[in-house]
Amino acid sequence: MMARRIIPALAWLAAAAPGAAADEPCGDRSGNASARAGATLERMTQSEKLSLVDGSLGAPWGGRPKPAGAIGSAGYVPAVPRLGVPALQETDAELGVANPGNIRRGDTATAMPSDLALASTWDLPLARRQGEAVGAQARAKGFNVLLGGAANLIRDPRGGRTFEYFSEDPLVTGLMAGSAIAGAQSNHIISTTKHYAVNDQETDRVVLDVRIDPAAARESDLLAFEIDVERGHPGSVMCAYNQVNGVYSCENDWLLNQVLKGDWRYPGYVMSDWGAVHSTVRSALAGLDQEAGEQLDTENFFGRLGLAVKEGKVPEARLDDMVRRILTSIYACGLAGNESASDPADLREGEAAALAIEREGAVLLRNEGVLPLAADTRRILVVGALANLGVPSGGGSSQVVPTGGIALKEPEGRNRAMIFDPSSPLEAIRRQFPRARVDYADGSNPAEAAKGAAGADAVVVFADQYLTEGVDAPDLNLPNGQDALIESVARANRRTVVVLETGGPVVMPWLDLTAAVIEAWYPGQKGGEAIADILSGAVNPSGRLTVTFPKSEAQLPHPRIQGDPRGAPEGPVGRGHRYGRNFVADYSEGALVGYKWFFARGERPLFPFGYGLSYTKFGLRDLKVSVDGDQVTASVIVRNVGSRAGAAIPQLYLSGPQGDGVPLRLAGWSRIDLAPGEEREATISVDPRLLATFDEAARRWRIAAGSYRMTAGFDADHRDLVASFSLESAELPP
Ligand code: BGC
Repeated sequence: MMARRIIPALAWLAAAAPGAAADEPCGDRSGNASARAGATLERMTQSEKLSLVDGSLGAPWGGRPKPAGAIGSAGYVPAVPRLGVPALQETDAELGVANPGNIRRGDTATAMPSDLALASTWDLPLARRQGEAVGAQARAKGFNVLLGGAANLIRDPRGGRTFEYFSEDPLVTGLMAGSAIAGAQSNHIISTTKHYAVNDQETDRVVLDVRIDPAAARESDLLAFEIDVERGHPGSVMCAYNQVNGVYSCENDWLLNQVLKGDWRYPGYVMSDWGAVHSTVRSALAGLDQEAGEQLDTENFFGRLGLAVKEGKVPEARLDDMVRRILTSIYACGLAGNESASDPADLREGEAAALAIEREGAVLLRNEGVLPLAADTRRILVVGALANLGVPSGGGSSQVVPTGGIALKEPEGRNRAMIFDPSSPLEAIRRQFPRARVDYADGSNPAEAAKGAAGADAVVVFADQYLTEGVDAPDLNLPNGQDALIESVARANRRTVVVLETGGPVVMPWLDLTAAVIEAWYPGQKGGEAIADILSGAVNPSGRLTVTFPKSEAQLPHPRIQGDPRGAPEGPVGRGHRYGRNFVADYSEGALVGYKWFFARGERPLFPFGYGLSYTKFGLRDLKVSVDGDQVTASVIVRNVGSRAGAAIPQLYLSGPQGDGVPLRLAGWSRIDLAPGEEREATISVDPRLLATFDEAARRWRIAAGSYRMTAGFDADHRDLVASFSLESAELPP
């Protein structure tokens, strides 16, 4: 009994002394933030400290109004005016500033394309720009904590939050999420990376027990967070709903104290997801620093922290550590002294960013010569997915009320309540083809749509899939009979272009019948314009998949999602609730996520990771690798061999010596704009962790001696250039 209490307490002490090399939150290297935090802490009363670690909803709940002082949003922590500590006004975040339940009546924000669209640009400055724009809008509304920076892996393409996540690959995820966080935090705002960790499915998320080999977790989901934290320096980390290896994430000593605060020396604070706390003492000792949205927990656990400290169950020093961490982020990110809302944000910049992301992030998956549509196309039929009104978006806490107003909220039923952003692809296509006759068929009657298609010069069929937080997709087929609709239209007209507006990968039983396929994702509130630009060729598509599209669910590590969708609530249920059974999800594939799984099994997907077409063509030559200790640098020459300007995304992959546990891994990439005939060299330095495996017992990365392979290509399945290099065995410094 005794031993069980002592171990977490000791682990916390180890985690409480970050090494000198640790950066401050928000990348502040002055050291002033922690000194200021220490000085404020000295002057705080016990009740002031306790109020800072006990966050509530920023909205009315259970018949009570929102807290006095709250703007109205997901979360709120009151100020300590005596000491100049600002209130924390917390808002979602991921794809624009949310306005849940229209709590701030009529308040709108730019609805960005999904994170999967952003990731498909492979464009780190653009990810930063997205973060800057969302952060500026949040700041202008008076928010100072953005609950955004999702760094979970897309471990299963059916995951309900696939559209909020970046990729199946830890390097892409970590760098893109970290870039968006850094952009957001340039606005005197704290950004929150989430949902730490392995919250990779929605089914049973509040009771799920994810089993994963710890070393495999370090090489996959945790590596994504590690890279994201290094690049983005988020002021806060949100622990997840699920359990990891039998322990809830928000009371998981291994995740919080040992890995995050110990091994990574994370200096900011850990806040809970809304309804993810299950204890007072265990959570406090394991490293949780702030209970958030406490009304959604079964009890107000950190409301009892004072008592736990008094009874000696939680050391006073631990409470001080929580407060110091929160204050350090407040000072480092510049929240103190910037309490008032900033000037109105430049909404034009938000829309310009949304347009740029979708133009670069839409992925051309197939083109049998029909795209771009000829300028003199005379009759175009647009079909389906309410393309006459707008573009779809994903559901849940990331949902944004777009500027210009919601184009349509579908009645609960077909897609629960899917919101369409006001950017009609039909209108945008009409603008791009002013001399054409552009008709619309809603697709509810496939035979009629096919009849209309037969007389058109080209058909553009839009298809959507609703994904939402809390629920996973039952399968990878397009819902609501859309596969049959596409098939009948494509049979009637071979010049059929399919535009997918999906949260993530889908299967395509009709693929061979089509002339072209564009994956547009949830394209955000400038999506219609961006799609029309690609159809007309005003924009040359350059998006590349950051997630594998399987041929069928049978190719996935888990042909059926684990857990029981009827057995547990979708979300937290609040006071007095007793959660039912735990469901174990055994992630036996370990670090073999996405393309790594396909490669290890020798499976060919429908479309591989990294894949995407352009209206021009690129070539690669001269792959070279140089090694200096554990510093591996590779270069390759990329050339535009076609006749249009375009952006190439050459990718480098590596794999280790036979049997050493380094599977095929993305080592890096470059995004290069090239004029016709132009060539340039792309150089990448490989993160040494990608050359290594994690030794959990020793808590460090180890590189095995032997011969490694670097390959270069334009997707994970086509890597024609090969270079070998040798490495000595090495241990990476912790
Ligand atoms: C979600 C978080 C979100 C929070 C606050 C939770 O249900 O998982 O992503 O930030 O709610 O709205």
